[in-house]
Amino acid sequence: MDDLRQKYLALVSGAGDEATLEDVRLAALGKKGEISLKMRELGRMDPEMRQATGAALNRLKDEIDLALRAKKAALGDAALDARLKDEWLDVTLPGRPRAQGTIHPVSQVGEEVTAIFADMGFAVAEGPQIESDWYNFDALNIAPEHPARQEHDTFFMAREAGDDRPPHVLRTHTSPVQIRAMQAQGAPIRVIAPGRVYRMDMDQTHAPMFHQLEGLAIDRDISMANLKWVLEEFCRAFFEVEGVELRFRASHFPFTEPSAEVDIRCSWDKGQLKIGEGDGWMEILGSGMVHPKVLEAAGVDPDAWQGFAFGMGIDRLAMLKYGIPDLRAFFDSDLRWLRHYGFAALDMPTVSGGLSR
Ligand code: PHE
Repeated sequence: MDDLRQKYLALVSGAGDEATLEDVRLAALGKKGEISLKMRELGRMDPEMRQATGAALNRLKDEIDLALRAKKAALGDAALDARLKDEWLDVTLPGRPRAQGTIHPVSQVGEEVTAIFADMGFAVAEGPQIESDWYNFDALNIAPEHPARQEHDTFFMAREAGDDRPPHVLRTHTSPVQIRAMQAQGAPIRVIAPGRVYRMDMDQTHAPMFHQLEGLAIDRDISMANLKWVLEEFCRAFFEVEGVELRFRASHFPFTEPSAEVDIRCSWDKGQLKIGEGDGWMEILGSGMVHPKVLEAAGVDPDAWQGFAFGMGIDRLAMLKYGIPDLRAFFDSDLRWLRHYGFAALDMPTVSGGLSR
């Protein structure tokens, strides 16, 4: 009896987990456990012997049972402790990280401009940034010997010797999207095309990569008057000043005839630019009636259709509207600059909400 007692109490205290402990319980007290088998032998004993042995066996059984329970509770506590340690969580930590990013002024102004023209029925069109020189120049009535090819300070894509595929350039303006949109859609058409353009140029107001917004409207009888109204309407909404005044200056582009550059009335007051008042003028875009040769190149019949096109610099518009003096800083990725000039991520510009709010 003492041997059994020592054996099982040692096994119980040595069990390292609940499964081992259960094995010990079965070995001692299970149906075929050692102590249970001993109980069965009681029937073959004489009454006195049976009483003494039975009582001792019962005590042993109770003792082991008690030890098992105590050990089980201890193992359970230890497991819980381990889990608590494992799954520990500092609930005093801030629940959400502070928003870090801001919307870049170029993205913001791109959204504002798109919202205004969408409101006037213009859809958004796109084209590739690596463009064939046919789309970038020829189709826009810029002949190979035309000085505009040089004026555009074009980046040409490198070519292997013997490569006779058509030459490609980084597009110097968004005007090739006019051609692509008309080829894809025909006339009538009303699209804008915002996007990146490239020219070898770098100073306070020029970067080798910048952003333009192209506009194109073609129908049976669209005239300069429609162009003027659309641009005035745009400036009023974009600069959020009622009495904007525009000046149309005769100009020349190979892809429009007649052509006009458009200036907006403004003044400089102690380094601060004011749009819509004063006696200064600031050029903001190029425009004109789409040249018949351009329509033809894009597969649109110039005897049946006509319309206007314009192109403006998105970065330039952002500088004007938000008083940002140096264009180069736009592309420096300086976080301090972005926090200063950037916009909150959830403020989507809308015409009805007042774009800049
Ligand atoms: N593509 C011209 C430029 O980049 C702008 C322009 C577009 C002018 C459409 C007239 C019509 O300077």
